[in-house]
Amino acid sequence: MKDQLKQKAMTFLTQYINENNLSTEVLKERQNEILSSIDETGTYEHNVEELRYGAKLAWRNSTKCIGRLFWETLDVFDARTVSSETEVERHLLHHIKHATNKGKIKSTITIFPAIKENEIQKVKIWSQQLIRYAGYEDNNRVKIGDPASIPLTKIAQRLDWKGNGDHFDILPIIYQWNEQPPIKIDIPKESILEVPIVHPYEENWDELQLKWYAVPIISDRLLEIGGLYYPAPFNGWYMETEIAARNLVDPYRYNRLREVATILGMDTSSTTTYWRDRALVELQHAVYHSFKKAGVQMVDHYTAAQQFQTFREKEENKEREVRGDWTWLIPPVSPALTPIFHQRINSEELSPNFVTQVKPDLLKKISGMNESSRVKSCPFHV
Ligand code: ARG
Repeated sequence: MKDQLKQKAMTFLTQYINENNLSTEVLKERQNEILSSIDETGTYEHNVEELRYGAKLAWRNSTKCIGRLFWETLDVFDARTVSSETEVERHLLHHIKHATNKGKIKSTITIFPAIKENEIQKVKIWSQQLIRYAGYEDNNRVKIGDPASIPLTKIAQRLDWKGNGDHFDILPIIYQWNEQPPIKIDIPKESILEVPIVHPYEENWDELQLKWYAVPIISDRLLEIGGLYYPAPFNGWYMETEIAARNLVDPYRYNRLREVATILGMDTSSTTTYWRDRALVELQHAVYHSFKKAGVQMVDHYTAAQQFQTFREKEENKEREVRGDWTWLIPPVSPALTPIFHQRINSEELSPNFVTQVKPDLLKKISGMNESSRVKSCPFHV
């Protein structure tokens, strides 16, 4: 284990030193410090600059992300010294505020203490994203809100949280402090920016009563840098298809496509009226238009694909091969109209990166998951 950690630490350190043109003296000095720390304590610490750069590299290496052109602009907050629940809460609410920035979204990451073997894990976030809508299922199996959130909503309710029971109830953030039972943080209403989904010209559109929140802050993954694993919520801004082709449309999410088509007066009696495709396009248009109108940053899938091409070219000019998961990079709407569809890309994962954390047992139980769905990406059973 020690040897493995040493190796990972050295690989990252060398990359950090090289890409930042630091001297071999600095490299040697840090090598010695880190290696003796691992010998003596079994682990080591990144300095602030290494942490900052490591987080950016994790983004640059994220094979599923189309928005990586901006990897160097990530705002990194170091929360490794948190020593109480109050401080965790302060950092998480600060993240929401800083990232939202009244709609001019800032890509942000907040990094909590690394998980260390044989030590109590200080922070473990259960929420998939810091801001998410609750989901309910009534006795007739009718679903309200976001079905993806049904398990976490049940946990929130056990913690005495009460939603309105409607489609867009913001869940509290749920996390564990020092491996104690989960606790919740209610996010102040004024910190949450939401966008009503309107259509530029369709008249009956508002009957759909759709909206979405401005900032997707992924919070259930771990940031891996040089063999250390940090709980670290991070965000970018939305691409329109995430909301308009997936969250509002997937049959196991809001499942609203038929309703959209009906409101637009389409003939839904046969697949070959192409009502699904036509309604889908109107949804993209509406979501994009709504975010722009509300002054909230968003990218459309053509621009994002173009930016991805630029990212690839920039990286290749530096003789770095861009890795990517093609199945995630192609947009779910009109994929073949973007260059990404027509290109091959190597999907092997690099480090630093974001990895899956093991789901908490209670959440697994409530979601009806079994042991076999345990993920192996993090070496500790956390
Ligand atoms: N697809 C997720 C959602 O719809 C968000 C994933 C991160 N997306 C991003 N643009 N950074 O909520």
